[in-house]
Amino acid sequence: MRDAPSGSAKGAAQRRLRPMPWLDNAGRFSPFKLTVLVLLALPAAFVAYEFAGGELGPRPINAALHEIGNWSLRLILISLAIRPGRAILQWPQLMQIRRMAGVAAFVYAASHLLLYAADEAFDLQKVALEIAFRIYLTIGFAALLVLTAMAVTSTDGMVRRLGAKRWRRLHQLVYGAALLGVIHFFMQVKANVDEPWVMAGLFAWLMLYRLAARLRKGRGGLPEWLPAALAAGAGIATALGESVYYWVKLGVAPAKVLAVNFTFATGPRPALIATAICLAFVLAGIARRRLPLAVRRPAEQS
Ligand code: HEM
Repeated sequence: MRDAPSGSAKGAAQRRLRPMPWLDNAGRFSPFKLTVLVLLALPAAFVAYEFAGGELGPRPINAALHEIGNWSLRLILISLAIRPGRAILQWPQLMQIRRMAGVAAFVYAASHLLLYAADEAFDLQKVALEIAFRIYLTIGFAALLVLTAMAVTSTDGMVRRLGAKRWRRLHQLVYGAALLGVIHFFMQVKANVDEPWVMAGLFAWLMLYRLAARLRKGRGGLPEWLPAALAAGAGIATALGESVYYWVKLGVAPAKVLAVNFTFATGPRPALIATAICLAFVLAGIARRRLPLAVRRPAEQS
């Protein structure tokens, strides 16, 4: 949605105010967008609070670096979940916050790099060499470059300058950034890879959803049961991926790792957690559609 051209002084003032993230597309104050802005800033504020209170352990900068990196990846996945969220939750307003979530992911990623430089006592030559020669850092850097390109081109002016088609194609790089972020996460972990596997499972569902939506394009949207089936599919893919990972890395028989998903011997496994998060999303959509006050709109495709 774009602003209607207006020659009035009020219209000009609105256009000048437009970049403010708490204004809607018509330049009006939006409590919804302000709330989301505050929510997006909360993790950083919380980490800053813990840092100031000396609650981040013996290496506070490194701990903050981990927290902020984690939030950057979460925000990329959240921004990818907005389009399916609009369709599943029947909540068109969600699209208003997609740009904010994407820019926030970039801000967290840039702060993550800044914290890394701080952790290296701002020895920028060392930072550059490490990024060039340590593959997991090179991958993180590539993800950051993509996020930077998207943040720089996120304004309405850039949409106009690039043209909608080129802009959309550029912004499809977000899938690559998410994948690189997940790989970077896996590669920096020393022992427990549960959380990267949860992220991988969520990413798998987001990609399966988009694939299904593309295949069903022009055929009346996705049936209500399909996102739930895709959540199960993403869970199975996560369990298989995890078992192959432990087989290749530690030589553990894949059947043994797969079995743990059912015995709960080590608590709920990443496959189950990722499936549960996706199913909660789908169930929230079903509940919203069943509520008497729900806004009923035709299902939208991504
Ligand atoms: C130049 C870019 C980047 C550099 C130099 C960098 C560096 C690092 C370092 C040093 C760690 C901790 C490794 C350790 O303690 O052994 C880390 C962890 C992490 N980074 Fe990055 N990173 C970059 C970009 C990114 C980006 C763009 C994302 C998100 C998409 C990201 C997400 C993460 C995550 C999720 C972790 C693990 C956090 C945790 O332990 O929970 N990083 N990164």
